[in-house]
Amino acid sequence: MKPVVLITGASSGTALAKVFAAHQHEHGHELALVARRQDRLETLAGEIAATGRPRPTVITVDLERRDGASAVSAELSSLGLEPAIVVNNAGFGLRGAAAALSRDEQLAMIDVNVRALTEMSLMFVDSVARHRGGILNVASLAAFLPGPGMAVYYASKAYVLSFSEALHRELSERGVRVTALCPGPVPTEFQARAGLSLPAAARMLELSAERVAQIGYDAFMAGKRVVIAGIGNRIAVSLMRLVPHALLLRLVDQTRAAGAEK
Ligand SMILES: NC(=O)c1ccc[n+]([C@@H]2O[C@H](COP(=O)([O-])OP(=O)(O)OC[C@H]3O[C@@H](n4cnc5c(N)ncnc54)[C@H](OP(=O)(O)O)[C@@H]3O)[C@@H](O)[C@H]2O)c1
Repeated sequence: MKPVVLITGASSGTALAKVFAAHQHEHGHELALVARRQDRLETLAGEIAATGRPRPTVITVDLERRDGASAVSAELSSLGLEPAIVVNNAGFGLRGAAAALSRDEQLAMIDVNVRALTEMSLMFVDSVARHRGGILNVASLAAFLPGPGMAVYYASKAYVLSFSEALHRELSERGVRVTALCPGPVPTEFQARAGLSLPAAARMLELSAERVAQIGYDAFMAGKRVVIAGIGNRIAVSLMRLVPHALLLRLVDQTRAAGAEK
């Protein structure tokens, strides 16, 4: 089987795919891209091929579906491919009070952000270990605090961080790297899908998708357990640890409400 870098959520968040493509000489593998929007994936594959690099394999799958991860695995096997590196980037958020938002949509968020990420992390452990590769899971700054107004999203990212840190420890003796990438705000389609408008305070922490992808790639290659993207976000996480929980909850709630009024 030929080893590849498998990247989910590559139809909109194209930066990670571009960084892994640009560094193929370092990690050594072609790409396989996963998302629902095939046209977007084909465009990205074409852009990468146009730079003289091998054209990535495109796999169109809905990771909300229970059989999403096994469909990815079956498609890879049929093409004679297996992951050396898995990048679990697909994910989305929803803004609003948890009790008022659609339960089905929030459970679908757990399906993508938590269930599919867990399944994709675990189902390829043997092939990742065989190729001495690893798993890069995209968490968020949201992983470090509860999020009134986006409760399920924040909780899903806390899961991603906790799970990835534990997996980092468990798989280290098999030579498998596991990194949790925690970005702060990044201008992508995420905000529109989540129904978010960022307040000024949050915009100060914004980094480009390209910068975040490079930070994530470098941390993964260096075998780091967790990377918080950007100095501003690192300071924010340090400050969060000092603020009493009750006050933190009120601050997050007020910041979110300020963003919602814009
Ligand atoms: N943007 C931010 O401010 C921010 C901050 C911290 C963390 N993050 C995290 O970064 C990751 C990437 O987000 P982004 O900012 O690049 O958002 P984005 O522009 O909305 O991209 C999300 C990607 O996930 C894919 N996806 C969503 N639902 C899917 C499903 N059911 N099946 C398969 N693929 C699915 C989308 O592809 P299709 O729609 O084509 O399926 C898209 O490629 C997410 O995990 C997000 O939580 C984002």
